[in-house]
Amino acid sequence: MSDARIPGYDFDNTALPASPVSLEELDKLKASVLFTDADEEALRQAWDVLEDQVEAVLDVWYGFVGSHEHLVAYFSTPEGEPIAAYLDAVRPRFGKWIEDTCTRAYDAQWLAYQQEIAVRHTTDKKNRTDQVDSVPYISMRYLVAFIYPITATMRSFLAAGGHSDEQVEAMHQAWFKAVTLQVALWTRPYVTEQW
Ligand code: HEM
Repeated sequence: MSDARIPGYDFDNTALPASPVSLEELDKLKASVLFTDADEEALRQAWDVLEDQVEAVLDVWYGFVGSHEHLVAYFSTPEGEPIAAYLDAVRPRFGKWIEDTCTRAYDAQWLAYQQEIAVRHTTDKKNRTDQVDSVPYISMRYLVAFIYPITATMRSFLAAGGHSDEQVEAMHQAWFKAVTLQVALWTRPYVTEQW
């Protein structure tokens, strides 16, 4: 997955509003999930392993969402009809997010895009990017709950690169921390001043 244009993926848009979360707050959040430089290195290594497996990871995640009516409902019309074009449009953005989670510096631009991803799950911006008529927001509780499947399903992919058990564990823990960190950031537009 390179930097190919993915419709709606806006990471490098410098016109994005700055995140309401400061870099100092991000540092505290990183410390709270025990995210260190070693995790950053482990994520770089993870990307080497995952790069050629992204489609297979997405197949697993889409299979998981697709097999639960209450989850696929978020990619469906308010009447419950799945919108194939919506599922297809978001898929490459999930893939690019895996790459960015592993390879990008967690700086101000990254923070700004975290806020953008967050609002795309809320009434502020869900459906707008893909111009679809779907349900207006995703309940925050499911964002939190997804930390588990998005983490657990990654282990076998990380183990496929021939690394030692210790290295696989380090990559997996780093991934777990990175996902938890991001979901914590994504709660921001849901809870505003209590953040
Ligand atoms: C969008 C990741 C939870 C449904 C996205 C995007 C990413 C992502 C990377 C694309 C952002 C972009 O447009 O660049 C995640 C992760 C989650 C999570 C890591 C939790 C750990 C959920 C849950 C659902 C969901 C629980 C409900 C089934 C969607 C939908 C979109 C989306 C419908 C498209 C939103 C739009 O209209 O722009 N998610 N997500 N996500 N996600 Fe999530």
